[in-house]
Amino acid sequence: MNKIDRIGYNHDGTAAAALAAAYDTPPMAYVRSYGCQQNVNDGEKIKGVLMDVGYGICDSPEQADLILFNTCAVREHAEQRVFGNIGALKKLKEQNKGLLIGLCGCMAQQPQVVEKIRQSYPFVDLVFGVNGIDTLPNLLAQKIEGRKRVLQTPVERTEIVEGMPIRRDSSFRAWLPIMYGCDNFCTYCIVPYVRGRERSRTPAAILEEFKGLVTAGYKEITLLGQNVNSYGKGLDENVDFSDLLALLCTVPGDYHIRFMTSHPKDASHKLIDTIAAHPQICNHLHLPVQSGSNRILKEMNRHYTVEHYLELIEYARRTVPGITFSSDIIVGFPGETEEDFEATLELIKKVRYMQLFTFIYSKRSGTKAADMPDPYTHKQKADRMGRLLAVQEEIACEQTAALVGQTQVALVEGHGRGEGLLNGRLRNNLVAEFAGDPALIGSEVQLHITGSRAAMLTAELA
Ligand code: 5AD
Ligand code: SF4
Repeated sequence: MNKIDRIGYNHDGTAAAALAAAYDTPPMAYVRSYGCQQNVNDGEKIKGVLMDVGYGICDSPEQADLILFNTCAVREHAEQRVFGNIGALKKLKEQNKGLLIGLCGCMAQQPQVVEKIRQSYPFVDLVFGVNGIDTLPNLLAQKIEGRKRVLQTPVERTEIVEGMPIRRDSSFRAWLPIMYGCDNFCTYCIVPYVRGRERSRTPAAILEEFKGLVTAGYKEITLLGQNVNSYGKGLDENVDFSDLLALLCTVPGDYHIRFMTSHPKDASHKLIDTIAAHPQICNHLHLPVQSGSNRILKEMNRHYTVEHYLELIEYARRTVPGITFSSDIIVGFPGETEEDFEATLELIKKVRYMQLFTFIYSKRSGTKAADMPDPYTHKQKADRMGRLLAVQEEIACEQTAALVGQTQVALVEGHGRGEGLLNGRLRNNLVAEFAGDPALIGSEVQLHITGSRAAMLTAELA
């Protein structure tokens, strides 16, 4: 692996000066992020950079002088939604000629998307790719100083930018990226093409950010990476993800750690032992399996077998008390037969996940799977999805019912669905709804679990 350049964030003040000259009162920016947590964290950095050059942040597009869509490219449906939402902005732009509209994130990293924006969405002023957040001040300055449109051609950035300003969405739950990019090239996935090669932040940089979060009172810190279990490759120091977790757990304070996403080919017994050894690390493992058929796993380029996967799950259950599992499943991968699909049903019955994120396969051009024969109809795939969800619902219900009567600690995340209700997230990642004072949001409480409805628990303050 080549050495990774690490650079600091800096801008020369041109954008701030241009902005100050162009607006009488501080302009407002609306940033909307789609997709994964990595993208949400990027959105927080975008807001940080915008504030750094003089924008205020608002939460409705109608109030905004700048609207930025920070997009996801993982499935076609998400892309269509973004194009629809951008199309809807044309009206706003007609009413407010000074409004700036921008698109960034994973979609903007694809040349055909940038071309489509250039040709069919003339009212979009600004486009920049997923690793170009630090260049935003410069692009904004160009636009404000009179360039018609600033559409960046997608480039692959290979360096890590440290010290970006950030405006976090929450005051008690924080995202902390430990690495960027992905080298796995699962045959269905666009991420390695848009987010580039895998590169790890140094333990020192991560530790510094982590300590800052703990000092600032963050209760839940989620470490992010496309495949956290391959953390450390290419670093000077000999450190893996388990070592990093153990290092962070030496920081004193009142917090707990989550992480995502783990790849089953790299998740190790050492990782599971590390979870067991540190009470700060939550007893929940998101371990996407994608399929329960070894044949399909091979076609997906996943580099593990069902047997290996089940062994990991079994070891984790034996080692970490009360651990729960969640997973991602793709239904209808090209050529997935009824028999392959039934193997997936078998697998989910064996593992007994608390939570599943299920997706019908979406063809992404440029990936290997896009060229594979795909003889099954959407109707057949949707039918399989329905069967999968029914099986999973039953499994989830049985497991949540088994928790009734227990008392567990929970982080109060926000309002529940019903009047006067709050949501508390347990360490095992389940959410319990309970009646309580909204002032409790952001703090930890003991909840007595009184009932269950599918994957959701009901509880009362203990
Ligand atoms: N089609 C459907 N689902 C996909 N995912 C990734 N790429 C695709 C695709 N082309 C799912 C995988 C991954 C999750 C984040 O999104 O299950 O784990
Ligand atoms: Fe979407 Fe994947 Fe990009 Fe996240 S990394 S924003 S899920 S395409």
